[in-house]
Amino acid sequence: MKIKTIKQIKNLAGKTVLVRVDFNVPVKSGKVVENFRIKKSLPTIEYLLQKQAKIILVSHLGRPKDKEKELSLKPIAKELEKLLDKKINFVELKKYKNVNADITLLENIRYYQGEENNEGTLAKDLSVLADIFVMDGFAVAHRGSASVSGIAKYLPAYAGLLVAEEIKCLLQATEKPSKPLVLILGGIKCETKIPVLKKLLPQANQILIGGGIVNTYLWSKGYAVGQSVVDKDFKKEILKICANKKVILPVDLVVGDYAGKNYQVLKVDKNFKVKKDQAILSIGPQTVQMYSQYIKKASTLILNGALGYFEQPPYHYATFAISRLFANRSKGKAFGVAGGGETVQVLKDLKVDAQVDLLSTGGGAMLEFLSGKKLPGIEILRI
Ligand code: 3PG
Repeated sequence: MKIKTIKQIKNLAGKTVLVRVDFNVPVKSGKVVENFRIKKSLPTIEYLLQKQAKIILVSHLGRPKDKEKELSLKPIAKELEKLLDKKINFVELKKYKNVNADITLLENIRYYQGEENNEGTLAKDLSVLADIFVMDGFAVAHRGSASVSGIAKYLPAYAGLLVAEEIKCLLQATEKPSKPLVLILGGIKCETKIPVLKKLLPQANQILIGGGIVNTYLWSKGYAVGQSVVDKDFKKEILKICANKKVILPVDLVVGDYAGKNYQVLKVDKNFKVKKDQAILSIGPQTVQMYSQYIKKASTLILNGALGYFEQPPYHYATFAISRLFANRSKGKAFGVAGGGETVQVLKDLKVDAQVDLLSTGGGAMLEFLSGKKLPGIEILRI
């Protein structure tokens, strides 16, 4: 896949560049509580500043229905000012004037009708503000929104440094990856994981499974799974996928209550049975050992999704152990890419995030990319 990047733009001095970023970050009581995605956009912003371009940043926050105040980007403008040590001109799109500011951040673009479905004139209205469009919000690249892909109808479009890096690393991990390729797939939702499983099964040497897919598999096989989260719609598909020898399933599981009090380790054998008031809440210690053997032999590792309800001890052990091992093997023995909100959070909390080759900003976008789907925000960048 060849894409146009900002490095290919010859003369940026004096040009106005509209940059679609993804500043959809957690905000509480008017303060940014986690700035990972904002930080990941800084290289592109700094590059454009250095080339003396004028920058207009566009992002969404949450899914507003009626211009809810708590979804304003004002706290994000403040955070960005701190990170860049620079004044940010924060305005609503309709009030934007060609002022003499180096960086403008527009108010939540989802406050405007036509953004999410790219209807009406929003894409065009945005395009008249700038000379060039730069797509740097990898995490929103799977949305065909006005400010993500619609605007490329009116302006020349280029990838920012973040999007270029994400694409490069994800392709390295999936197109002719260095073998063995081991995929570690957890998390509770099956819907977004199944297409990834299907797409990567041919290339992968092993796919190590945890979370909702395991629950649904055991339920589909007729085992009692108590309160475990199960996705009944995917019974047939999961049975088919899990019959593949490359799909490695847990040999033991931690079951218990959500408060982390009444728990035990259960072997997965013909007597496996979860009590009515318990749920499957993590892969077990023997499974961690078994999965570790595969991870230690891998040359390429992809990690997405937690392997248990890690927010509640003691269900965190397996997720933490596998995440640490994954990070230790990355940037050296293996090429390691990780993505998804929880996965990134765990790696950060364990302070091993810097050891990973790619810490993707994308959750849904990363999974869709790995599934081989065409992402609107990336299609517009192709040469
Ligand atoms: C995300 O957090 O996954 C992106 O910002 C996209 O948000 P959305 O799912 O509301 O489109």
